[in-house]
Amino acid sequence: MSIPIIVGNWKMHKTIAEAVAFVKALEQRLIPEDRACLAVPFTALRACATHALRSRIGAQNMSDAAQGPFTGEISAPMLLEAGAQFVLLGHSERRHLFAEDEGLIRRKLERAIHQGIQPILCVGELLEQRRAGQTEAVVVRQLESALGELTDPGSLMIAYEPVWAIGTGETASCAQAVEMHQLIRRYLSRWNRPVPILYGGSVRPDNAAALLNESEVNGLLVGGASLELDSFLSIVEQGRRG
Ligand code: PGA
Repeated sequence: MSIPIIVGNWKMHKTIAEAVAFVKALEQRLIPEDRACLAVPFTALRACATHALRSRIGAQNMSDAAQGPFTGEISAPMLLEAGAQFVLLGHSERRHLFAEDEGLIRRKLERAIHQGIQPILCVGELLEQRRAGQTEAVVVRQLESALGELTDPGSLMIAYEPVWAIGTGETASCAQAVEMHQLIRRYLSRWNRPVPILYGGSVRPDNAAALLNESEVNGLLVGGASLELDSFLSIVEQGRRG
């Protein structure tokens, strides 16, 4: 079994100094096989990338435009120049708190691929959608709207993150995660190329192993538990047991 990809998503946490201290300490404890990634605040990208040797550093969001009069936005070339290797797109907090719609997420994804920054497309249903039996339809619609026109997935990764599990302490069961990963994999099979599928939503050191045990789960997207070095490392280390 290949080593899973563990992506920390720091959201709006950590100053540059805090971020650098974390990355330096992390690097001391990673082994060459580890596939640890950190999605850090824009301000910390350059400094983290400078200190990252085994880990990969990325961003949490990106504009769909290459440049222009878009106050407060940041472009793919700027991220690449700052040392970002990947970018999260369509995270549920972007979709729901910042009203990013499916058209915008599709344009961001196309832009990321065009500019050569690896996209991690996040998809997932709301609790009311799951209760209404719409989970599969919602996720397929999110995939189709973002990826429907894509001829080559390149280095694309998908993160399945049920919105009701993000930051709530409530994780999807392994069976729920596997069912959705299978659905997503069937959708992705059109390209005949492996696209890693990560699970995210209240992943912690005490539930990571069970999720990673599932061959459908190629990695994890970790929010809250990525903020402390020991809990993030514990999850990375559990990925080594494959
Ligand atoms: P969480 O966040 O692990 O704190 O639930 C996951 C995410 O938002 O990517």
